Amino acid sequence: MEKPIILTGIKSTGTPHLGNYIGAIKPALKMASDKSNQGIYFIADYHALNSVQDPQAFRKYTLEIAAGWLALGLDPEEVIFYRQSDVPQLLELNYILACVTPKGLMNRAHAYKASVERNTKDGLNPDHGVNMGLYTYPILMAADILLFQSDKVPVGKDQIQHVEYARDIAQSFNHTFGGTFKLPEHVIQEETELLPGLDGRKMSKSYGNTISLFEEAGKLQKLINKIKTDSSQPGEPKDAESSTLFQLYKEFAETDEIQQMRSRYTEGVGWGEVKKEVFYVINRELEAPRKKYQEFLNNPQAVKNILNKGAIKARNLAEKKLSVIKEKAGM
Ligand code: TRP
Repeated sequence: MEKPIILTGIKSTGTPHLGNYIGAIKPALKMASDKSNQGIYFIADYHALNSVQDPQAFRKYTLEIAAGWLALGLDPEEVIFYRQSDVPQLLELNYILACVTPKGLMNRAHAYKASVERNTKDGLNPDHGVNMGLYTYPILMAADILLFQSDKVPVGKDQIQHVEYARDIAQSFNHTFGGTFKLPEHVIQEETELLPGLDGRKMSKSYGNTISLFEEAGKLQKLINKIKTDSSQPGEPKDAESSTLFQLYKEFAETDEIQQMRSRYTEGVGWGEVKKEVFYVINRELEAPRKKYQEFLNNPQAVKNILNKGAIKARNLAEKKLSVIKEKAGM
């Protein structure tokens, strides 16, 4: 029997931070290493294009994201790893799917609706700043998913609707032209526990409280030193569960280390000590990947070669499925 296909796209819209790593990248890497599935991981650069429209930044994000995943251990021999814009068949399918997608479905998409609501609140034209890439985003995502006959699609909570749309669109095609597409299912990355940022709020680019995933050691320590604590002194017992530093520590430390740290909180460990330990566990996990990441950034051609090899595999699969799809529609 063929292995189930697990496919996920990684939008290249920024430099990844520790919150992305714990919430999305790490669980996805774990899934990728499961040999009972065929993993397909791609950089969704077309999806990034509706917001990143500076070619230099665009190139930088693509390289950084690809280098990051490779540095963290994504194995391009085991999973198919490519850049979306290297697979033109996706755009052919995008158009075909657009023709069986009711416009009303797009009107109801969360991301688009949120823009319209924001604009309306601000007294602007409802479609202000909305390009057609944003509007039809779910159709391209359906093409991503359906062209590779994905069984499972790991996504964050905000993307569930898009996977449901891919099912709706697949059913619409199947209904019109006969059974062609498998219906994919979303897999929620439950671990998406919110990692706190420097100010204790959820780590997020929009709050400006992030720590970059591959921050150099000295800078990493400095940023950790900046994390907000209460004013309790060394010797005063502290509550671990409500402590930002502890939340961070927990995600990177071993079970026995976490136990010990909990006791040290009760015993009144000083914040300076905790900060050192937090640095130690984060750095321990990321030191080697950071080095590899830098090597990839210094050798972008190596990254391109890997993506090109992945693109050949992806195009081969895509071409086969696409010809079946076109045949069904009479082309
Ligand atoms: N829309 C996803 C995000 O913003 C990225 C993505 C694009 C994707 N195509 C996909 C995810 C296909 C899963 C499957 O994160």
